[in-house]
Amino acid sequence: MTERTLVLIKPDGVQRGLVGAVIGRFERRGLHLVGLKLLRVDRLVAERHYAEHRERPFFAAVVDFITSSPVVAMAWEGPGAVGLVRTMMGATNPATAAPGTIRGDFGVDVGQNLVHGSDGVARAAEEVALFFRPEELVTWERAGQEWVAPAD
Ligand code: RTP
Ligand code: MG
Repeated sequence: MTERTLVLIKPDGVQRGLVGAVIGRFERRGLHLVGLKLLRVDRLVAERHYAEHRERPFFAAVVDFITSSPVVAMAWEGPGAVGLVRTMMGATNPATAAPGTIRGDFGVDVGQNLVHGSDGVARAAEEVALFFRPEELVTWERAGQEWVAPAD
């Protein structure tokens, strides 16, 4: 089943020049890019994005971090895209993330773990809507996609 998910390259990934490396992994995996922008996240959006963590001790720190410097926001589609992206990101704490994952290859610290990916299909729809207006999402056919997976 084709799913859509939100991916953020967090401030650390942008500052470290890893935008191309991260996007390239999703492209090479065969996912389909339907939204892409560089932006500075404002506090209201950050607090909505991390609303599920409002009571956690790290809430203020993650809001401060995500608003500290530009991020890249992307919407990716593909079969099982939500779980696929989470698997490619690796465990929340890069210190324990498997090699071969984005966090396991590029990170060492839980607060600077490079990427965000939606954790469910319903939450993904909310997060895509938080970061993109409908007209910013592009419907297009990627050449050769039939060599990646059959159409739904
Ligand atoms: P994300 O939402 O960024 O994709 O990461 P995740 O699902 O793997 O982790 P989540 O539990 O949603 O936590 C959100 C972000 O909060 C930071 N965090 N810090 N200090 C801590 O114990 C701690 N735990 C989580 C991480 O940056 C995590 O990505
Ligand atoms: Mg999360």
